[in-house]
Amino acid sequence: MSEATNMSSLVDSLLRVSELTAAAAKETVGYGDETLADRIAVDAMRLALNKVKMNGRIVIGEGERDEAPMLHVGEKVGTGEGLEVDIAVDPLEGTSVTARGMANALVVLAVSPQGQMLHAPDTYMNKIAIGPGYPANTINLDRTPAENVRSLAKAKGVQPNEICVSVLDRPRHKDIMNSLREVGARVMLIPDGDVATVIATAQKNNLVDMYIGVGGAPEGVLGAAALKCLGGEFYARLVIRNSDEEQRASRLGITDLKRCYSLDDLVKDEASFIATGVTNGILVDGVTRDNNFVSTHSLVMSSVNKMVRTVRSKWKI
Ligand code: FBP
Repeated sequence: MSEATNMSSLVDSLLRVSELTAAAAKETVGYGDETLADRIAVDAMRLALNKVKMNGRIVIGEGERDEAPMLHVGEKVGTGEGLEVDIAVDPLEGTSVTARGMANALVVLAVSPQGQMLHAPDTYMNKIAIGPGYPANTINLDRTPAENVRSLAKAKGVQPNEICVSVLDRPRHKDIMNSLREVGARVMLIPDGDVATVIATAQKNNLVDMYIGVGGAPEGVLGAAALKCLGGEFYARLVIRNSDEEQRASRLGITDLKRCYSLDDLVKDEASFIATGVTNGILVDGVTRDNNFVSTHSLVMSSVNKMVRTVRSKWKI
């Protein structure tokens, strides 16, 4: 079996991991318990990952070993045979929206040959993303949001007020909001889940043209893995607020805390990305149960052949 065939059959196995995790997480939707939702998703994902024939290493996970008993960064996953790969996971992207019974909760997973994805610390990250089809440097993290909107509008051949920017609804984004209002852009405020909205910038059927703002650094690498498959531009810089966060970065070998990472810095050459809906969302539908059957909807992508597929699965429980 060739290396590529191995990777594509590994992706199929990881799709099953994602589906099983989503089905488990769905059982916690709407119970107002974020800890429970996260624990159920992590348990289900770890159990399923460890049955997959691979020599996997978690590079983006639930945090560092001392604070995350499971799926911590550096943990070995899989049976120990087969391809040596790095795995980035967010067993429940949208813990809070799951607990509150809201839209856009996802299981997210990316896989690459070892050494391809940035080992990002569990800190915030300042990010900007657009989809494919625009000249290089259409966006720049060091420009104001208004300048980025004007630049994208010019590249797209539309007026700035036709550009739709997605922003996490947080008080810290007040200045971004003011800048976007100044230029008259549409703003789509999201309660959580910036991985989905980064992907949405690359999908023609979604309204979103650009994502701007500060969100999780691990989610930044996962979003970048998705854009690596779909194409687009992504820039990011860590947001380090104190010495503890500085040490987290340093433990992962990051010394230049002000570095601006491009898409290729976050994910070098090759990655595959899987997302399965827990609740209905802009990318995929959520899990449904009908008598003894459970159904899932997933997005599966690869940067190697730019393959993008949506997969609906249904199985008896
Ligand atoms: P959950 O922690 O509820 O899963 O939320 C995920 C998320 O919304 C990410 O998509 C985003 O990057 C990050 O949290 C934003 O962090 P914060 O909620 O602290 O602003």
